[in-house]
Amino acid sequence: MTVDKSNADARRQELMKEIERLKKEKNAIILGHYYQRDEVQEISDFIGDSLALAQKAAQTDADIIVSCGVNFMGETAKILSPGKKVLVPDLNAGCSLADSCTAEDLQKFIDENPGYTVISYANTTADVKALTDVIVTSSNAVQIVNSFPEDEKILFSPDRNLGNYINSLTGRNMRLWDGACIIHEKFSVEKLVNLKKEHPDAKVLAHPECKKSLLALADKIGSTKGLLDYAIQSDAKKFIVVTESGILYEMKKACPDKEFIPAPPDDSTCACNECHFMRLNTLEKIYDCLKNESPEITVDPEICEKAVRPINRMLEISKNLGLIK
Ligand code: 13P
Repeated sequence: MTVDKSNADARRQELMKEIERLKKEKNAIILGHYYQRDEVQEISDFIGDSLALAQKAAQTDADIIVSCGVNFMGETAKILSPGKKVLVPDLNAGCSLADSCTAEDLQKFIDENPGYTVISYANTTADVKALTDVIVTSSNAVQIVNSFPEDEKILFSPDRNLGNYINSLTGRNMRLWDGACIIHEKFSVEKLVNLKKEHPDAKVLAHPECKKSLLALADKIGSTKGLLDYAIQSDAKKFIVVTESGILYEMKKACPDKEFIPAPPDDSTCACNECHFMRLNTLEKIYDCLKNESPEITVDPEICEKAVRPINRMLEISKNLGLIK
């Protein structure tokens, strides 16, 4: 082992110990998304997809929540637990999808389409949630849309790929906001086809934020948790994973005897597709934010009051449908 590597390992161990100490001292919980760096997932008390993270944030009795994901996840935690301190390791961890639809934009879309029910994906700002009737995540979107009458007129924001996928499965004709996730948009059909040729025995797992042409090549389409569960339950031994490559950490941990191959983006020679916003969170920054209790996520109380309704409605419908306990 080189000196640099052993120094880095020692620093990592030291940070992990200090984070554990601060967590106990301050009654804090770390919630991590599957797209986080391996070591951030390792130090998290709870790892999940957007739905599970929202549910956990609503239920925890910790005084401080450290949200390791992107900012909309921290905002959702704050909206669901307004009395708690919600910290994020790096306030620059934005989301291209959330940024693609401002509250002003959505209000215009609503004004142009009177009489429509507004369904928004969780990857939105608190202001957008405040204008929404019900929030969905990729693990409950199809079921929640199906819970509305067939002739319900629906506006869906902001992900056109997820929206098209829901329309195709439900036979609805939701009007879609024209947004997309820059990471999921970057996967290459050509490179995926080549990978499939190289590994004909592999199952393809894809997130519904991918383009239709990629989803057409998938054996399983689902949320991060949905894809993980599929990999665990499947008899297959090899999987090509078409979503942010952070999920491979949990997949490999849960299935050490199986092989996971990240699908590459179309614009580089790099083998995997990483969201640089998600990767902004590091052990160093988690330690600093717990120690300094900053940066903190704040949401205007009036917005909080409006935004909590569509999130609670999502949790309630999900419970009624048996999707969560
Ligand atoms: P999941 O809810 O599937 O974890 O998705 C979160 C996300 O941000 C995907 O880009």
